Amino acid sequence: MKNTIVTHVDPKSPISESFRNLRTNVHYTNIDKVIKIIQITSSLQGEGKSTITANYGVTLAQSGKKVLVMDCDLRRPQIHKMFSLSNTNGLSNILVGDNLMDKNIKETKIHNLFILTSGPIPPNPAEMLDSKRMRELVDSLKDHFDMILIDSPPVMPVTDGLILSQIVDGTIMVVALGSTEREAYKKSMDALENIGANILGTVINKASSKAGYYVNYEYEYK
Ligand SMILES: Nc1ncnc2c1ncn2[C@@H]1O[C@H](COP(=O)(O)OP(=O)(O)O)[C@@H](O)[C@H]1O
Ligand SMILES: [Mg+2]
Repeated sequence: MKNTIVTHVDPKSPISESFRNLRTNVHYTNIDKVIKIIQITSSLQGEGKSTITANYGVTLAQSGKKVLVMDCDLRRPQIHKMFSLSNTNGLSNILVGDNLMDKNIKETKIHNLFILTSGPIPPNPAEMLDSKRMRELVDSLKDHFDMILIDSPPVMPVTDGLILSQIVDGTIMVVALGSTEREAYKKSMDALENIGANILGTVINKASSKAGYYVNYEYEYK
């Protein structure tokens, strides 16, 4: 496993603490709703979606929840690399009907944390994510896990993130600090709000270069 998963290798660090704050905030601000499936997205590539999904997944698993991280970025999948897993089989195989769900879900060394990698990159990611089979898959996975985190492609260049926002219970946006990202963030938030996405909040990533690695969680960052 790569050292990028700081919540696993260094649970006492300030970054791990900020992931625990994220976990608590999402949990306590949604007490009246069932939030079981969460999509993590951002407007642009490289803002930290995969990093945050992986660390958030680890943090939830550490709290005793049975967690599935699904790599729904069928364009630039990263989750298998972060957990050093094979990606020969995964979500795309299930969606085309080549594989059964049970065979594809991989265990990790972390207790309670399971992974569904992307599988081979398909030619039509948006269409696959928008399929009946995808909705049925997510529906059946719900019964097997306490929480499902979905890593996704960025919202600005492709529609995948918007499609996924309709399948999940809530969406967490990630924004890396910088003017380009802020502009794109506003446009993506508009697009998500226009289709009625349930936006749970925004993680501001890369907030401090001095700390090296820093996340902060805010609800009304706009
Ligand atoms: N807070 C951070 N501090 C330092 N590097 C980060 C931080 N968040 C992400 N990175 C790095 O930035 C790169 C892009 O992150 P990634 O999670 O793959 O973004 P995305 O999934 O949004 O494309 C990766 O190399 C990752 O390790
Ligand atoms: Mg990614």
